[in-house]
Formats: sequence, C-alpha cells, structure tokens
Amino acid sequence: MNKPHGGILINKVDTNYKTDHGFQEVELDSMALSDLELIATGAYSPLTGFMNREDYSSVVQSIRLKNGLPWSIPITLPVDEKKADTLAIGDTVNLARDGIIVGTLTIEDIYTPNKELEAKKVYGTTDRSHPGVKKMLSRHDTYIGGPVTLVRYPEKEQFQDYFLEPKETRKTFDELGWETIVGFQTRNPVHRAHEYIQKTALETVDGLLLHPLVGETKSDDIPSELRMKCYHILLENYYPKNRVFLSVFPAAMRYAGPREAVFHALVRKNYGCTHFIVGRDHAGVGDYYGTYDSQKIFQNFTEDEIGITILSFENSFYCKKCESMGTSKTCPHPSDNHISLSGTKVRAMLREGKMPPKQFSRPEVASTLITGMSAEHLTGTER
Ligand code: ADX
Repeated sequence: MNKPHGGILINKVDTNYKTDHGFQEVELDSMALSDLELIATGAYSPLTGFMNREDYSSVVQSIRLKNGLPWSIPITLPVDEKKADTLAIGDTVNLARDGIIVGTLTIEDIYTPNKELEAKKVYGTTDRSHPGVKKMLSRHDTYIGGPVTLVRYPEKEQFQDYFLEPKETRKTFDELGWETIVGFQTRNPVHRAHEYIQKTALETVDGLLLHPLVGETKSDDIPSELRMKCYHILLENYYPKNRVFLSVFPAAMRYAGPREAVFHALVRKNYGCTHFIVGRDHAGVGDYYGTYDSQKIFQNFTEDEIGITILSFENSFYCKKCESMGTSKTCPHPSDNHISLSGTKVRAMLREGKMPPKQFSRPEVASTLITGMSAEHLTGTER
C-alpha cells in the first residue's frame, strides 16, 4: 500500500473532545468546513491544520510546504477582520458551522494574504471571472492558521455510505487484495472518454477508485446527486464489479488546473492510490490553461517527491474509421472522423432533451442526465 504524503496518515478527529463554550467562535463557510474534515481525517496529510503564513507563502511561491514537501493549493481559514482583531496567537477558538461547534483550532498565526499574488500563482490568472479566483476573493481577507481537531462530523445529507475516509479506503483496498490502485478524479458525469482512460488504466493495475468530487462546485456544474445516479448506472452496466470501488471526495473544486492536479494526486495518494489519472485540461475551466499544463506541472518534482504514479492521457475521442475510442497516439485518422463534444455543447443538447451520440455518452447515462436536468431546470454552461 502506498505511504501517505509525508509518511504518516494524520488523524485529528476526536469526537469525545469536550468543547469549552467559553472560547471564541469562528464560523466556517462550506469550503472551510470540508477542508477541516479533510485535514482531520488525513486526506490532506501531512497538514495538521489550516496553513500558517510560512507554509502559505511557500505553497503560493514554490508549490511546496516550508519543509520542502510538494503541496500546491493553499488550505486557509479566512476570518473577517473585526473577528480577527479580537483574536490572539495562542488562543484556542471553536470552529462552527451554522452555530454548531464542529472543531477547534489553536491559533499559530494571524495574517493578511496577498490575494493578487495568490490568484496569479495558484490560479494562473487574476481575472475575477475565473470561478476559483472569484471564490477566493469573495472570502474574508485575514487568514488564521494553526492545528485543528474535528470534534463533530459535518452532517451528510446524501450518499452517506460513500464518504469513506483515507483509513477506510486503505482498509478496503487491503481487504480486496489490491496492491495497485488508480484514482480517478471527476466533477462531471462519466462519458465515454472518461471510461476509456479509466479502462485503459485498469488494464495494468488491480483496481480503480472512482472518486468523484462532491464538495462545492460552481453552480452550472452538474449536481453531485445526479452524477452519482449516472456513476451507479454505468458501473452496473459497463464495469467489472470486483475491480472498481466508488467513494466520494468531499473537497470543494478550485478550478486551479495544474495546481489542482498536483493537489488531487497527493490527496488520492493519502486515500491509498498508487496511480492517478491526469487527462486533458484536468481541473481546468474555460481557456485559462493549456490542454496539457496539468500534466507538465509534475515535471517540477521527482517521482519520489510525488509518490504516486501519474498516468497521463491525451485527449480521447471516438473515431468513426477505427470504430473505437482512441487518441492521437493510437488513431491515424484526421479529426473530422472523431466524435468529441465540448461540455457546453453536450449540456445544451441534454437541456433540449436531445441524446448525445452513443459514441460520446452511454445512452443510459445520457437519458438519466436528460431526466435529471429537466427536473432541476439547470442552466448555463459546463466548461
Ligand atoms: S475535472 O475538473 O475533474 O478534471 P472531468 O471530470 O471532466 O473534470 O475530468 C476528469 C478527468 O478526466 C481529468 O483527469 C481530465 O483530464 C480527464 N478527461 C476528461 N475528458 C477527457 C478527454 N476527452 N480525454 C482525455 N482526458 C479527459
């Protein structure tokens, strides 16, 4: 089994912890709440809390923690300025969501981030219409850092059985006898291109962890509830049951492209994966990143430093001449033979109740999406 990032699986959960109601309270937004849980359960190992200034600056500037370990996304706790004025280094604060205490944090640092720099370095743009930049700028302008304890698990409104912690996925892989496991991140329904790269990977490893992100996403992404329906249908009909394990990843989506690809890989290592798929424009949005930037960023690190094998895939499509899925690495035919639709195009079709070609999406998945989307009156574009 693959070692966690930094060597030890962090555990900062203590549901017997007696909270002191006399402490000051810091209210968490949904991103911070999911980050708290992910830190505490070891998904973000080696992090033990929200980042202090040194780790934050180091991550922003050099994609590494202060101690040199690769880490690409700042995990920060923004608090409003007035609240920050009442806090001091060394204080313990209660972390609350909707007034319910879910954790504690011992303040190591209170600092003002340079958000322009954070946007530029982490998201590669300061454009306010980038959803990750927009979200980051909308959060408070003072960060507090320090170790945390999760004292109460956030309520799970849906798919309760699929929220497995890293120690649980690791145990599952062990029980299944899987030694090599490929992790697959997704925030979309699984279309044929996704299926193709997953199954290509499955030819060489023991098992697939299908690990959809179900934390906060932008409003025009397909809701996780509907996506989960599609994953079940697909697994039921097209995947070997004993070689795929479905579990959810509660993190918020950052849309940080290359930086987020590194983050996604390191976190899946903590869940026990030995391999991780990075396809075209991983975690990208709009035209902010080059098609393969999310693969190129891994050149900044040695394989040992990353500690999970990256399986890079070219843009895949269905080729009418080959009568199969492929990529430019395997198919010699010109692109007018290729069926590959943009997310925007597919969503438009689904919204109009039109089935995309079966070479793009399995009919059972497409019809589930059409029904689900007409029920929810979704609007907007996917990418
Ligand atoms: S993401 O934001 O979670 O990356 P998505 O769910 O679409 O978005 O992608 C999941 C994974 O599949 C990513 O690694 C992405 O690069 C890859 N991917 C998506 N579509 C294709 C495609 N047509 N060809 C190759 N890789 C793809």
